[in-house]
Amino acid sequence: RKKLGILISGRGSNMASLVEASRADDCPYQVILVASDKPEAAGLAWARAQGVATFAQSPKGIPKPEYEAKIDAALREAGAEYIALAGYMRLLSDDFVARWRGRIVNIHPSLLPKYKGLDTHARALAMGDAEAGCSVHIVTEELDGGEILGQAQVRIEARDTVETLAARVLAEEHRLYPRVVAEWLNR
Ligand code: GAR
Repeated sequence: RKKLGILISGRGSNMASLVEASRADDCPYQVILVASDKPEAAGLAWARAQGVATFAQSPKGIPKPEYEAKIDAALREAGAEYIALAGYMRLLSDDFVARWRGRIVNIHPSLLPKYKGLDTHARALAMGDAEAGCSVHIVTEELDGGEILGQAQVRIEARDTVETLAARVLAEEHRLYPRVVAEWLNR
């Protein structure tokens, strides 16, 4: 099975959906490390409790190349061949992306190419969109810009707030991410 490392910054619910899906016999990946830039990330405690190896490295007080070198070393020492970003809220440098070219995927809470960056649900509501959703894409040097591997849509209701919309999209993320990562690693 392909060895997948996951980077998170917080709750880690998408990471959890990948870990849970990886337990199926026919899943093409195993999660060999969950790493975070936030030592206090709730997802790290969840992963640890599941028996998944974890690594935490705060970027505070060290130059970005040094921070990324530590993340890179932890992933390689764990044997990672691929990386899934799951609510990892830090931009990866061009150098890091180049070292893992074509082997990093991300889940983003919008129907890319719409709403790259932050506050996706607020922007979809403000634009009066009829639909919102989430996208899984290959990570390149362009923010939220790489090849789209899969998307899921939800209808925006008149009564939606950022919170209700985010919750409905998140439920779709949890279905989409494990499926698309499996298809990607099987192709
Ligand atoms: C998810 O909605 C994910 O799509 C989004 O953050 C949330 C993380 O939740 N990611 C981004 O906005 C990336 N720029 P989680 O930690 O529970 O998976």
